[in-house]
Amino acid sequence: MIVVASRNGRVGILAAVEVLRAGGSAVDAVEAGIRLVEDNPEEHSVGLGGLPNILGDVELDASIMRGSDRMAGAVGCLRGYRHPISVARQVMERLPHVLLVGAGAERFAAEIGADRGELLTEEARRMWAEKQALLPPEAAANLQDGADLAPWVAYLTDPVRSRGTVNFLAQDARGEICCGVSTSGWFNKYPGRLGDSPLIGAGGYADNRYGAAACTGLGEMAIRAGTARSLVLYMKMGMSVQEAGQQTMRDLDELGGNYLSDMNIIALDAQGTPAGFTNESEGKFIYMRAEMSEPQEVERTFTATRRRWAETL
Ligand code: GLY
Repeated sequence: MIVVASRNGRVGILAAVEVLRAGGSAVDAVEAGIRLVEDNPEEHSVGLGGLPNILGDVELDASIMRGSDRMAGAVGCLRGYRHPISVARQVMERLPHVLLVGAGAERFAAEIGADRGELLTEEARRMWAEKQALLPPEAAANLQDGADLAPWVAYLTDPVRSRGTVNFLAQDARGEICCGVSTSGWFNKYPGRLGDSPLIGAGGYADNRYGAAACTGLGEMAIRAGTARSLVLYMKMGMSVQEAGQQTMRDLDELGGNYLSDMNIIALDAQGTPAGFTNESEGKFIYMRAEMSEPQEVERTFTATRRRWAETL
């Protein structure tokens, strides 16, 4: 039994391992771990305290996938609910659908009695206001009144702050593997923007036969390269988890376009081997087996990928 997470999953990994120790499922473990990250106001890329879109609204994305039958649930652009991962799980368990977004996701969250809450903290509001102050005053004043937002999304975006997400992968005593992802997405994103996190195959993928993978980083890259699914498919084709992760990073390096930035992946093979990958100069992930007393922090394998940020603007 093992839980693997991005480093910001530290606040939840013990709870997730406890679930496994008590005989709970990988799905229960992933949900329990991510809920604690979603509750952490100091984590500005997930749940409460998450950084808002260009209009100052926090829009959350999340997904969960069960590896035995590849069932999955996801929500996107969810506002006003504390635990998008739990709403995503209920999409998987109660609906014939995989992904709900916006008003429909909120209606479903209300129907299932999900926890409501204000997500924009004072600290996140202050960070948003600092960025708004970079806009010409007339542009800032008009954004809320229907002015064009498109010219300002890239202008306000700091590629480092455009990323951030939490990933959890777990394997339980029965060999069930689950993958979960939750995020507030790209800071100052265009309202309605979905990243990779709610898209099965991009931000996360799980298949008991081969393993699982999940991403943090610039979601648009993982969407375009089908990153999480690619890594699992490379394992299906016979690569080790290390080889599969490095091949997946090379696929990202082959992307074109003007917005290429950070990407981090965590992975787990069917035998319970954890791995992590990054194109940043340093980056770590964590894992904890049921018999360990605390999580182990591990350096991710580095692969350089080309970077470009709005060169033609
Ligand atoms: N990886 C999270 C996002 O791009 O929204």
